[in-house]
Amino acid sequence: MLTAYDAQTARLIDEAGIDILLVGDSMGTEALGYDSTLPVTVEEVKRRTAAVARASEDALVVADMPFLSIGVDESESVRNAGAMLKEAGADAVKLECGPHTVELTERLTQLGIPVMAHLGLTPQHVNQLGGYKRQGTTEDAAEEIQSLARAHEDAGAFSLVVEHVPANLAARLTDELAIPTIGIGAGGDCDGQVLVISDVLGLSEDAPPFAKQFGDVRSAMTEAIADYKTAVESGSFPAAEHTHTEPELDDS
Ligand code: KIV
Repeated sequence: MLTAYDAQTARLIDEAGIDILLVGDSMGTEALGYDSTLPVTVEEVKRRTAAVARASEDALVVADMPFLSIGVDESESVRNAGAMLKEAGADAVKLECGPHTVELTERLTQLGIPVMAHLGLTPQHVNQLGGYKRQGTTEDAAEEIQSLARAHEDAGAFSLVVEHVPANLAARLTDELAIPTIGIGAGGDCDGQVLVISDVLGLSEDAPPFAKQFGDVRSAMTEAIADYKTAVESGSFPAAEHTHTEPELDDS
């Protein structure tokens, strides 16, 4: 699984044969210029999800439910999640989970809205967690994550993202659950892996320690933009091959 927030990137990821496109609320920091994911709105996720869904032929498209779009009121949560499928064309939604999302997962599943659960580091709780810190590092904390994972599986979640937890906890979850686990900063024993696309491409300014940069798109973009500026300033662009003249206009 990889994140995508626009049609061009989604098409490339889909064509590469990646199974799942996650329209993550990480769009807040990676595409929308916010300092965290908290300001991201339902409308922003819907619009980006629709672009990704239009570009995807094979990959499952999962829309991330943004901060406070679920959990305040059940009918509002259901309507917001339903809109991701009904209006934006997503195949499923992802919820940052806690004890408050067990019943909601059951309700959404009953209604035909597939739920991907997300445990461990849930960035929408950054103000409670005191930063983007490793989670599940004590036996009690690990057991709490395991028990929530079981509860969400029982409630009908079809998969579980586990973020920034010890590899041995992720391995326990993967062993214990029937649904697939998808790890990010959770070691190599999960059933699948996910990363934020800008970290993979080498475009992020502030990648987390567990991400790996597989390309250097930032340097390629910086160079292309500088070359364009130089070409315009020097007059070498536009050249004859980029230009059309109409002979008739010279006759009058
Ligand atoms: O918003 C996001 O991109 C995510 C992934 C990091 C799992 O939740």
